[in-house]
Amino acid sequence: MNKQAQLYEGKAKKVFATENPEMYIVSYKDDATAFNGEKKGTIVGKGAINNRMSNMLMKMLEKNGVPTHLIEELNDRETLVKKVSIVPLEVIVRNISAGSFSKRYGVKEGIVFAEPTFEFSYKNDDLGDPLLNDSHALALGLATSEEIATIRNMALTVNKLLKEYFLKLNITLVDFKLEFGRLTDGTIVLADEISPDTCRFWDKDTGEKLDKDRFRRDLGNVEDAYQEVMRRLTEGN
Ligand code: TMP
Repeated sequence: MNKQAQLYEGKAKKVFATENPEMYIVSYKDDATAFNGEKKGTIVGKGAINNRMSNMLMKMLEKNGVPTHLIEELNDRETLVKKVSIVPLEVIVRNISAGSFSKRYGVKEGIVFAEPTFEFSYKNDDLGDPLLNDSHALALGLATSEEIATIRNMALTVNKLLKEYFLKLNITLVDFKLEFGRLTDGTIVLADEISPDTCRFWDKDTGEKLDKDRFRRDLGNVEDAYQEVMRRLTEGN
């Protein structure tokens, strides 16, 4: 399958049409941004790591009954996926306080929740991805109530599966962001990516951050952290 017209360029990926109208090719970039694009940089090798890691995780999720956009990895940076239209909701699940949760509610990082939290942001860069609830999403026509219920169930299932999977790699899954898409027939599938760009990973023993917070907060050793998660995933398989 070959790339045709570029349909979209996001902050971390490009999306191309293919000769099959039901399939797209996503191409992962090394570009990194934070704070709604205000901070810009490059994480060398990130595109290839995120491509491979996301595909490994989506395969695992598929095996466990979660439908995803994945068709097949084409090369280092490129993957063939099902054509979807992205539901403009960033779906965030948290197991432990960190990031914007800690900031918004004035609590320290590291509080382990008895139950995961679930939240939506409106995927809209011009507005800075504002937090919104189900009724706001419905009022704005971003998703139907059925779709919202499906997305919530799928996201919580993904959390259980990923948490367990990363625990075996001695990694604590703190929180993550998912995006969902609609296939041509309206079926909701998991789309976008699952990677250190979109998850918080802490080493289970040391608490060391192994994700994009190293870039966001200028902690150094950013590339090393991505490689370390990839190394554990590869060795664990
Ligand atoms: P937050 O604490 O900044 O809201 O982030 C929650 C999770 O979502 C964290 O794992 C990082 C991920 N995330 C993204 O994937 N994209 C984003 O634009 C932001 C702000 C967070």
